[in-house]
Amino acid sequence: MHRLDSRLALCASFVRKGARLADIGTDHAYLPVWLCRCGVCPSAIAADINPAPLESGARAVAEAGLTDKIETRLSNGLREIRQDEADDIVIAGMGGDLIAEIIGDCAYTQDKNKHFILQPMTRSENLLRWLDANGFSVLRQDCCTAAKKCYTVILTAYTGKTAAHDALYPYLGELRPQENETHRRFVYAHIERLRKKAKGDSRFDAIADALANRVGETR
Ligand SMILES: C[S@@+](CC[C@H](N)C(=O)[O-])C[C@H]1O[C@@H](n2cnc3c(N)ncnc32)[C@H](O)[C@@H]1O
Repeated sequence: MHRLDSRLALCASFVRKGARLADIGTDHAYLPVWLCRCGVCPSAIAADINPAPLESGARAVAEAGLTDKIETRLSNGLREIRQDEADDIVIAGMGGDLIAEIIGDCAYTQDKNKHFILQPMTRSENLLRWLDANGFSVLRQDCCTAAKKCYTVILTAYTGKTAAHDALYPYLGELRPQENETHRRFVYAHIERLRKKAKGDSRFDAIADALANRVGETR
């Protein structure tokens, strides 16, 4: 069985035992194969918008002998996944804006029992902003390093609450950069990007400074 890298392993660790999984943008279907093979998930839908990755996913499922548990399905986001088919939904390896679009495009994402495990490759701040504004609460957030890059994984569910978070929240989420080195690395990467953006728009410098101050960095 293909071993999960630490990014997908972190996503896998957020999936509830016994949850029926939908993996949106599954590509090689590594995650559903792993979770069904380990017995965490009784069944899974491995979905992708493109036929080529889905074929490679279907091969991995067949090689693992899991065709009775994992269905591969062509789907743009959650459009072809019915509300009663999955409990935990993973959307990993896409940009934060696209992940927000996929959740916003589907009415049943407001089902409070569903868990969303989100792993934005870029613009995680936009995704956190969107979740916050649309009644989704972050239940857990963690970071990991894979191939020398730092990633975050967000576990969220719809609660209908819109919390009064400050302007730094999209960059910090529920991370604890003062206590956790990987969280700190992730937030530093935000600070670096903000300082680059500040060369074109000095307003970003104030956010970078406030963030650095919160993390405990001295310039
Ligand atoms: C970089 S791969 C990520 C694979 C895996 N989820 C991971 O994190 O390693 C992104 C996958 O998302 C698929 N994808 C992009 N947009 C999508 C959409 N709107 N709905 C479903 N799948 C999509 C792509 O075809 C591609 O296979």
